[in-house]
Order: sequence, then structure tokens, then C-alpha cells
Amino acid sequence: MFRRLRTDDLTTTIFFDGRPLRCRPGDSVAAALLAAGIERFRTTPVSGTDRMPHCMIGNCFDCLVEIDGQADQQACLVPVREGSQVRSQLGTGRFDAA
Ligand code: FES
Repeated sequence: MFRRLRTDDLTTTIFFDGRPLRCRPGDSVAAALLAAGIERFRTTPVSGTDRMPHCMIGNCFDCLVEIDGQADQQACLVPVREGSQVRSQLGTGRFDAA
């Protein structure tokens, strides 16, 4: 869905569900995941429906992921950090995260 215009400045690595992703310092986690083609960030607690970022400004909460062991992190508001472990959040996250 999204494509980076430049790829020569991808100097940071994060991991999404164990998969290494190269990204740009200053990217939000959501921007980095979207640029890598990831479209399912979480599933809803009740129906298990796939969700992905919608607003990118902290209002919709559709971008919730687990970052370095902390559930319920808004990926659109958190900048990437070298070596961060990001996990998709299934269900409530808080109780379902392994
Ligand atoms: S994309 Fe809406 S809160 Fe993050």
C-alpha cells in the first residue's frame, strides 16, 4: 500500500513478530510497519477482526501493538528505537500477550 521514496537512509532496525525491518530514525513505529507492507497491527478483543492504523495522530487506537513487552502502545505515537521488539496485539493484548 505504501512505498518509500528513498531507501538509502534506513539505518535503524526494529523487529515485528520476530521479523527484522529496516527503518528511518524518526519514523513512528506505525510508519515503519506500514512502509514494510504490514497491514495487521492487532485484532479486536470481541470479534478478532484485523485492524491497522487509521488516523496516525493518536485518536483511533487502531494501531495498538506491544512494544518491548508493553501492551497497548499506540504505534503512531511511538518513535522507532534501535532493536525494539514489536509484536502484533491479539485480542486485549494486556491479558493475551505471551
Ligand atoms: S493510528 Fe489512530 S491512534 Fe494510532
